[in-house]
Amino acid sequence: MSKSVFVKTYGCQMNVYDSQRMQDVLAPLGYGVVDRPEDADLVILNTCHIREKAVEKVYSELGRYRDMKLARGGNMTIAVAGCVGQAEAHEITRRMKSVDLVFGPQTYHRLPELLKQRETTGLAVVETEFAVDDKFKGLATEQVRNPTSRSVTAFLTIQEGCDKFCTFCVVPYTRGAEFSREPAQIVEEAKKLADQGVRELTLLGQNVNAYHSGSATLASLITELSHISGIQRIRYMTSHPRDMSDDLIEAHGANPKLMPYLHLPIQSGSDRVLKAMNRGHTAADYLKLIERIRAAQPRMALTSDFIVGFPGENDSEFEDTLQLVRDVRYAAAYSFKYSPRPGTPAAERDDQVPEDVKNERLARLQTLITQQQAAFNHSCVGQTLSVLLEKPGRQNGQLIGRSPYLQSVHLEAPDHLLGSFVDAYILGVGPNSLSGQYTESEPTGGHCI
Ligand code: 5AD
Ligand code: SF4
Repeated sequence: MSKSVFVKTYGCQMNVYDSQRMQDVLAPLGYGVVDRPEDADLVILNTCHIREKAVEKVYSELGRYRDMKLARGGNMTIAVAGCVGQAEAHEITRRMKSVDLVFGPQTYHRLPELLKQRETTGLAVVETEFAVDDKFKGLATEQVRNPTSRSVTAFLTIQEGCDKFCTFCVVPYTRGAEFSREPAQIVEEAKKLADQGVRELTLLGQNVNAYHSGSATLASLITELSHISGIQRIRYMTSHPRDMSDDLIEAHGANPKLMPYLHLPIQSGSDRVLKAMNRGHTAADYLKLIERIRAAQPRMALTSDFIVGFPGENDSEFEDTLQLVRDVRYAAAYSFKYSPRPGTPAAERDDQVPEDVKNERLARLQTLITQQQAAFNHSCVGQTLSVLLEKPGRQNGQLIGRSPYLQSVHLEAPDHLLGSFVDAYILGVGPNSLSGQYTESEPTGGHCI
């Protein structure tokens, strides 16, 4: 008998990948994917623990599912996956009696067995072991992927966990120690994706550039993956400045399949704050690194994450962050108010920054970042960029794709071009995207900035 599963994903791209793989694991049990929790026998909430807001969302969503379950006379299985599952398993089962299963990011390959256990014992099942190696061995190297919505882009997790222990961050506790998958396993998964029509691959890891397995590094892995002919574009995220090795920087200049786009979070522009965050680098180290990266690949678009209002951050330290942003000139960036996370060292500090100060700093930083993003996007106007067309747009005859710099590009083009690369002459800049015109002229190798 066929069953249905609905998966809701919060958080980072690694969760998106994990949600996909959960669906793969469930497919052999007869689970088809549905778009609404109301239609599902099994609802999985794949959760994020990174900031308090993300956790609050989980509990309110679980309340919604509880009501649905009640309305259906209990005929629905509710599972909580991901980092909140890992960190707060017992809290969840205590607060939410309607939850049937809780498991962490390292155990979802065992979903069939956990569902069975729930059925036979009638008790809530909690599974939060750490065994990353087992997980990847337990997962098939083939991503099942829904044939009706097969995308030309895919995520591939190559590394998990973090040993850096930034003092604000829960990741080392929820995702565990750094672990890198074997290159052969990754290459096999990538080849299967290419056979399914994937053209752009994003390699994922909490510390993706710390990837190392035997003598393989991220740079050598990228070289190997770029020999797969179907794969035309390679990206990776998220990187740590300390692990930006020479061979990786060189690869950006040498490998045309490696996109000129790098997400390299610095978090703060103040050396005192960086030290208190345990980042292991100064602002000057970071700026020097950016200089080397731009020397290897002058077209590199850079993005970052920032935290404002880290405990003890004063006005002038915050000004240092603004100055660093001005110095680097980002193509885009994410910024967050510091959110104390239970069990992390910074949460224990007694010099927490008041909420109104955090709000004011966040607004100022976001204004600056928005200006830089607009400047970057406007610099693309009049250029011809390569665009990988991913999906139909809202208007008839419109297709949407991405530029090498990960910008969304809207253009009018015939449907049969969906899934292929076209050259787009960039006409204008919208709030979250570029508009372009499909051109059949010779590629000009256009670029932004
Ligand atoms: N508070 C606010 N932002 C955080 N991040 C991680 N932990 C916290 C926290 N406790 C941000 C960092 C990281 C991004 C994924 O989330 O900027 O790079
Ligand atoms: Fe968290 Fe720092 Fe590790 Fe990134 S490097 S996952 S911010 S501890």
